[in-house]
Formats: sequence, C-alpha cells, structure tokens
Amino acid sequence: MSQQIQVLSFDTVIDRLIAGKKPYHSNYRAMYSSWYGGIVTDPQLMLVPLDDHLVHRGDGIFEAFLCLGGNMYLLDRHLDRLERSASFAQLRLPVSRSELVNILKITVRASGLSDAMIRIFVSRGPGGFSTDPYEPPASQLYVMVAAAKFPPAERYLKGATLATSRIPVKKSYFANVKSCNYLPNVMMHKEALDSGVDFTVSVDEQGHLAEGSTANIALVTTERVLLTPRFERILQGTTVSRVLELAETLVAEGELAKLAQADITPQQAYQAAEILMCGTTLDTMPVVTYDGHAIGDGQPGPICRRLRDLLREDQQHGDGVLTGIND
Ligand SMILES: Cc1ncc(COP(=O)(O)O)c(C=O)c1O
Repeated sequence: MSQQIQVLSFDTVIDRLIAGKKPYHSNYRAMYSSWYGGIVTDPQLMLVPLDDHLVHRGDGIFEAFLCLGGNMYLLDRHLDRLERSASFAQLRLPVSRSELVNILKITVRASGLSDAMIRIFVSRGPGGFSTDPYEPPASQLYVMVAAAKFPPAERYLKGATLATSRIPVKKSYFANVKSCNYLPNVMMHKEALDSGVDFTVSVDEQGHLAEGSTANIALVTTERVLLTPRFERILQGTTVSRVLELAETLVAEGELAKLAQADITPQQAYQAAEILMCGTTLDTMPVVTYDGHAIGDGQPGPICRRLRDLLREDQQHGDGVLTGIND
C-alpha cells in the first residue's frame, strides 16, 4: 500500500527538521551561510537551497583545510587556490579576502572546536534551475566547520594499497579548478572501495600518473629522488607543495638526493623505493602495494615517515603557515 504523500505546512517542516537529528550530525559544529546572513550551529539547519546552481549543476568551487590547536594551517595557500578556482570558473567571490578570513575565524570560534576540518564553498547562487550562470542574482558563500577526522595510526603503520584507475583523467583546465564537479573523483573513490584497495590513481592519455581522488601522489626512487607528477594535469595540492618545501631538509641531510617533478609511468612507480599519497586529510600516507606489486620492501618507508613528522611539526609551529582563530 503506498504511503499517502501530503503537502506539508511550514511549521510541520520545521518540526520535522528539528526532529530529524542524525548520529553523523554530531560532527557538524557550525555553518556560515551568506544566504542566511550569519552562522547556525544546529546541524539540521545547515542547508543549501535546491535552486542554488551549486546543487543542481555543480556550479561552485570549494576548499578544505585543517584547523589544529586553534590555528588554520596553510590558510593563505588555500585561499590563493580558491581565488584561482574562482577565476577559472569566472565566479565572483561574494566577500573580500579579509572579510572571508574574518568569517572563518568567527565560524570556527562559534564551533567551539580547536581541531576542525573547515570547508569553504562558493556557489553561483540560488535563482533558478537552468545552466545559465547569469540567472542567479548573486554568488553565495557557505563555510562548514566539522570535527577533524584523521586516519587511525594503524593505517600509517600498515600502509595503503593502490591501483591504477580506469576513470578518465580530467583535462588540465578542469583538473586545476577545485570545482564542485567531483563526479570523476567520486567514481575513483568508489572503484577503490569496490575493488578492495585504499586508493586509485588516474593516468593521463600519455600513460603518465596523475592523481588520486582527493590526494596527490609522490615517489621516492631507488636513487632517492622525491618525484611528483608535473602540476599541469592535476590539482596543485597544498600538502604535496608543502612536502616539497619541507623535504629540502632531507636533501640537506643527505636522506634525499634531490626533488623533481616529471612525467611518471606506472612501471616507474612499481620500481619505486616508496610511494606516498599526500593530502589535507592524510598528510603523507605510505603505499605498500601498487597494482599488486610490492613497493620497496613492502613496508611503509622511512622518507614517508620523516615527511609526515615534518608536516606535523609544521602544523604545530610552522613559521608563516599558521593563522590563529583568535588573532
Ligand atoms: C583532486 C585532488 N587532488 C589533490 C588533492 C590534495 O590537495 P590538498 O593537499 O590541498 O588537500 C585534493 C584535495 O582534496 C584533490 O581533491
């Protein structure tokens, strides 16, 4: 027997929203919405209108970054990338950079968290259901502050498994925009889960490694070169970029011979001493098998470990890369 579908009153919807608290809501601590003109802390109200082109066309851009111990990590670089994405998508940011930083600080403070994952979304805005980017009267800003979630320590000790993705790589123009069109990335994540590996990595038309669904790849060759794909066909990750800077210490210490960016084939990667996945939610995650080939001695490698330690030290005390939420 089919359930009777009713037209709901305004009050009924509000009551149902309030009653509809879900277990995962406990991670959602504060949301700024330019559409509301302020911050909400009730997860049931952390909503975006269906007619926002972000929702029905993926017409928006985003950034995700960490706040640790009350300091936003690599904020300037994330905002630089947000501005680059806005310029690619020809999307007007609704607030100035200093206003955005202020909104971020106030929203994180409202969350009560000192360790948080912050997500910024800039949408084309509500105003209709077409693809016409001129239809919405104004772009909107949404900031979401949620509890930070990290992979458990055992995952770093065990190492991750990697396979070559079958999902077509994005053209460079789109790979460089952190847009809300993440269907290829979602399909990569799904193929990894469905095939029982931790990550897949895309390969471009020339057979060169590109990136993971939300992470960059790096190799340590047997000649101790830290090698990453060139940034043309991939998103320029803030983590891998910072890793390349921090790794200079390992070059100075003689642990690494040099750092380089190059076209890398999967066959080269099978022969690597180490493979690392780098991203905001991972720091550096060691890969122990790629397409079934054991990487190095099949155990997490020492360079990956050192780079993760350097990143974590940088997240606590890094000079010029921390923005305090109370500053
Ligand atoms: C496609 C893609 N590549 C790489 C990364 C890693 O970037 P970051 O180190 O800035 O998190 C991300 C992050 O989400 C991503 O979505």
